[in-house]
Amino acid sequence: MNAQDIRNKYLKFFEDRGHTVISRAPLVLQNDPTTLFTGSGMQQLMPYLLGQDHPEGVRLVDSQTCLRAQDIEEVGDNRHTTFFEMLGNWSLGDYFKAEQFPWIFEFLTEIVGLDPKKLYVTTFLGHEAFGIPKDTESGEIWKKLFAGKGIEAGEAEIGTEADGYQKGMIPGARIFYYAADKNWWYRGKNIEDMPVGEPGGPSSEIFYEFDYVEHNPEYGPKCHPNCDCGRFVEIGNNVLMQYVRTDKGFEQLPNKNIDFGGGLERIAMAALDSADAFKISILWPIISKLEQVSGKSYDAHTNAMRVIADHLRAATFLAVDGVVPSNKEQGYVMRRLMRRAIRFAFDLGIEQNFLEQAVPVIADMYQADYPEVKANRDKVVEVLVKEEKVFRQTLRKGIAELQKLAGSKVSGVDVFKLYDTYGFPVELSTEEAFKQGIDLSENWREEFDAHMAEQRARSQTAAKGTFKGGLGGQSEIHKKYHTATHLMYQSLRTVLGDHVIQHGSNITEDRLRFDFSHDEKMTPEQIQQVEDMVNEQIQKDLKVSFQEYPTDVAHGEMGALGAFGDRYGDTVKVYKMIADGADKPFSFEICGGPHVDHTLQLAEGGKRFKITKEESSSAGIRRIKAVLQ
Ligand code: ALA
Repeated sequence: MNAQDIRNKYLKFFEDRGHTVISRAPLVLQNDPTTLFTGSGMQQLMPYLLGQDHPEGVRLVDSQTCLRAQDIEEVGDNRHTTFFEMLGNWSLGDYFKAEQFPWIFEFLTEIVGLDPKKLYVTTFLGHEAFGIPKDTESGEIWKKLFAGKGIEAGEAEIGTEADGYQKGMIPGARIFYYAADKNWWYRGKNIEDMPVGEPGGPSSEIFYEFDYVEHNPEYGPKCHPNCDCGRFVEIGNNVLMQYVRTDKGFEQLPNKNIDFGGGLERIAMAALDSADAFKISILWPIISKLEQVSGKSYDAHTNAMRVIADHLRAATFLAVDGVVPSNKEQGYVMRRLMRRAIRFAFDLGIEQNFLEQAVPVIADMYQADYPEVKANRDKVVEVLVKEEKVFRQTLRKGIAELQKLAGSKVSGVDVFKLYDTYGFPVELSTEEAFKQGIDLSENWREEFDAHMAEQRARSQTAAKGTFKGGLGGQSEIHKKYHTATHLMYQSLRTVLGDHVIQHGSNITEDRLRFDFSHDEKMTPEQIQQVEDMVNEQIQKDLKVSFQEYPTDVAHGEMGALGAFGDRYGDTVKVYKMIADGADKPFSFEICGGPHVDHTLQLAEGGKRFKITKEESSSAGIRRIKAVLQ
């Protein structure tokens, strides 16, 4: 069964069981300014999962196009894509797991025809501190379903990341209990970080085992469903959405809901028993076209062809949904996807425009099932082809710039500038320099990497405050933590040095979290100094204001710290925090806001700024959590 058939059979299967088929939401949600893209099926259903009546009833089904731009760097392996379709069915306070699991099991084994011996499931181990019990009920349901296929399903409690997910591994296990880091679902990541009012619940995921893929011991001694080695692939997620976060902990929602999401591409892989997602019917035609245009084979150029196929498919759907390449927000992501695709194509020797040929292949795969693809086909081709032309000119300009450097040495700053200003790939710079006989400076790589790290830190925070499925806080307490983050960033730089660059930031109602470059653990004295400096600035009641500046000016002459992805726009907001009568602001940072107006607001209720945790986040990156208490 190919991907198109699976999509249609799924909709029909649930329609036959009382569900109304609803339309997909566009990739850019109209009334949700807190998220760049639709990242899961449930997103358009948020109010209904929280208890509001849905006009189409209590049983819904759809196939939702999703884009997870945060996965862009992961594309190239056998299964990651930025764009995918999520098959979704929902019970809004109607049926629950006793109906959902048998249905989805029937769909996968009887309709798609997957071998039940290759299916594995996971359920929730419970969360003691929040008083949420272990989900043995789900385990029991799965046991019966497997027994119905003559399979005795063993259970294993394999714990948390801290245990390396190896605790309690037993041979023959088919039902795996994981802790909240794997089997608790809401639109964000950590259960502890859930904001008040956000719904979520235990999840029970279904995995398919590609038994011919050897386990890679780099991922742990024994393979298990959530091992990332590629032997197991998640094909579906049953979220038992029955809780809502409160200021004290968790409460039951008025309704127990089912939120199922199944990756169409992943199920199609399982149907083909192909561990390579790019072999399925809604990706392979693009690869075939690339082989034809480049005269090169997929086997020899797997990575590049995967990136191009994924990115062009994503860009095509963005264009269908009305996005155009630009330097801002969704348009910027679209531009980035397209430029990456064209660069990789360049590596394949495709130096001439080729989107005029590739984009129609993508439209052909979808237009029978999505009328909007058919209706917008010509416009989509036009938008993508236009951007390709612009970018190829840019590439040519980059080459010309490089040629100007003949006679001198190319430095890391030059390579970065070419990359940043012209989108000129690093590999192209070095190859081109080699071709022209221009030398590179000894330390060009270090210099380049340092600039890249800084840029990455800035762009990562573009996703700041948006969950994988959206929602960014705008409440008063969020604003306070946001302002505190700026004060702390500047204090860290003052205390530790200018090598401190922001690598990420996350704010909840309860704390701020901040990742930054620094090689060693902070000493207790340094932590104290930073705390004192922040509290001192809070007490000075700095006035917080912003002004818009042209991006280059803000970054260049003004030297504002770049902490927000808006730097890609033509103008950026620069937030200034300055004491009355002072001639220099304490903090001066590019940022989208919002902030409080005066820093003394952070001290309301006698609160003080306190660092509660300082730990390693990854090599060379420290992570701080801090509170106002
Ligand atoms: N909302 C769930 C997910 O995205 C189904 O995995």
